[in-house]
Amino acid sequence: MSDFAADRLLLFGATGDLSRRKLLPSLCALDADGLLPENLAIIGTARSEINDAEFRNMAREALEEFLPADRRGSMATFLNRLSYQQLDASTIEGFDALAQKVADAGRSGEEGGLAIFLSTAPSLFGPTIAGLQHAGLTGDRVRMCLEKPLGTDLATSAEINDAVAAAFPEERIFRIDHYLGKETVQNLLALRFANILFEPIWNSNVIEHVQITVAETVGLEGRVAFYDDAGALRDMVQNHMLQLLALVAMEPPTSFDATAVRDEKVKVLRALRPAKAAETVTGQYRAGAVEGKAVPGYDEELGKPSDTETFTAIKAHVDNWRWKGVPFYLRTGKRLPKRVTEILVQFRCVPHSIFEGTGAGLRPNKLLIGIQPEEDITLSLMAKVPGLDQDGVRLREVPLKISMPDAFAERQRRIAYERLLLDLIKGDQTLFVRRDEVEAQWQWIDSIRAEWEANGVTPKTYTSGTWGPSAAIALTERDGVTWHE
Ligand code: BG6
Repeated sequence: MSDFAADRLLLFGATGDLSRRKLLPSLCALDADGLLPENLAIIGTARSEINDAEFRNMAREALEEFLPADRRGSMATFLNRLSYQQLDASTIEGFDALAQKVADAGRSGEEGGLAIFLSTAPSLFGPTIAGLQHAGLTGDRVRMCLEKPLGTDLATSAEINDAVAAAFPEERIFRIDHYLGKETVQNLLALRFANILFEPIWNSNVIEHVQITVAETVGLEGRVAFYDDAGALRDMVQNHMLQLLALVAMEPPTSFDATAVRDEKVKVLRALRPAKAAETVTGQYRAGAVEGKAVPGYDEELGKPSDTETFTAIKAHVDNWRWKGVPFYLRTGKRLPKRVTEILVQFRCVPHSIFEGTGAGLRPNKLLIGIQPEEDITLSLMAKVPGLDQDGVRLREVPLKISMPDAFAERQRRIAYERLLLDLIKGDQTLFVRRDEVEAQWQWIDSIRAEWEANGVTPKTYTSGTWGPSAAIALTERDGVTWHE
């Protein structure tokens, strides 16, 4: 943890979608709860030719649209923290004026610190860093936070990482994966390592397979150019899903500390076996109905045919002692029947059934961890059906269920970015992705893309509102496994 709290936050891409939907609302919500440093000034910058007052107006509209009224606190106080400097980050010229604005925004009079958040096209990362260096905005008391996409493969990601590393040491680089800001994702660590029950059985002796599903109902959402160059594998698997997998599969870290946690995650990511084309499925949605509403196909939304996958399912393997022979089935897609992110841990059958031959209906246990929209944990246990058992014992699966919102009803549910922005301001890297993790993630993704290319894999179509192409069902059924729905 670097030892200063930032007193200024500089937001690149301040008028963009992420800023309006997530960053400004998260900052305002933190402010309403008194969690921002009192002297924190927020400087927005982007290409738009607007002044401070217009930026505050834009921010007010964004807060009204994206933050519930009961979380806004005194908006006027929050808006007062904001100022704006127009900048074309592709040229060096405007950076001196930006540096001046940042210096003027310092309110404390003491030596403060600067946190910079880059939420712009990655093509601007290099020029932005060069501009910041030129203007003296990369000193010891400056942190750099990067929003995805960090490249499109290992080589381009390394280029970005090199450009940033030329100006900032790794201890001051904060790479966002917003899934790590989600409460239920962090709760995976508590579930695994704050309870004695699970760890002794968390291995191939007792676990048969793991499923990770990140299903979305949305389609392109106006992000046409970006998404068509990315696809589901790069947009969702490379980052969010591999982080979930790493948290499920990692060894216990020695402490809840940035180095210890990230050391263990990277070992898992490096142990991923390059997937074969036959262990992957890709799909692209066609017109259909999602949640009762007719929606167009991907090609119609895009306005041209495309080979980009909007769905992928992968049978992944973690090649180490703990996970030998345990498949991790991953699946993600747009325009699926419902929005759900969940992890299913399927345990093995008991080694010997005393109910054998009685038709009792014994089934193996499973643990379902709901990340969103439901935040709950359900352990399915076998229980005896009450009765006199004249025809033999009957068993039935019953859920032991914890709903996190009910268990912690008095606690505020927060936007993932609230936690991440606060950690950035304070300098805690535990929930940010280290360079070696990102690169191990890309290495695995590149191996899959190379397989797709070598085997001429193109996405199969699926009707919007269904669970992807039928090949995704076959992928698990071949192993006698059914996706959890
Ligand atoms: C983003 C992807 O990283 O995550 C989007 O670029 C996706 O395509 C989003 O919709 C999903 O995030 P969440 O928090 O809604 O699950």
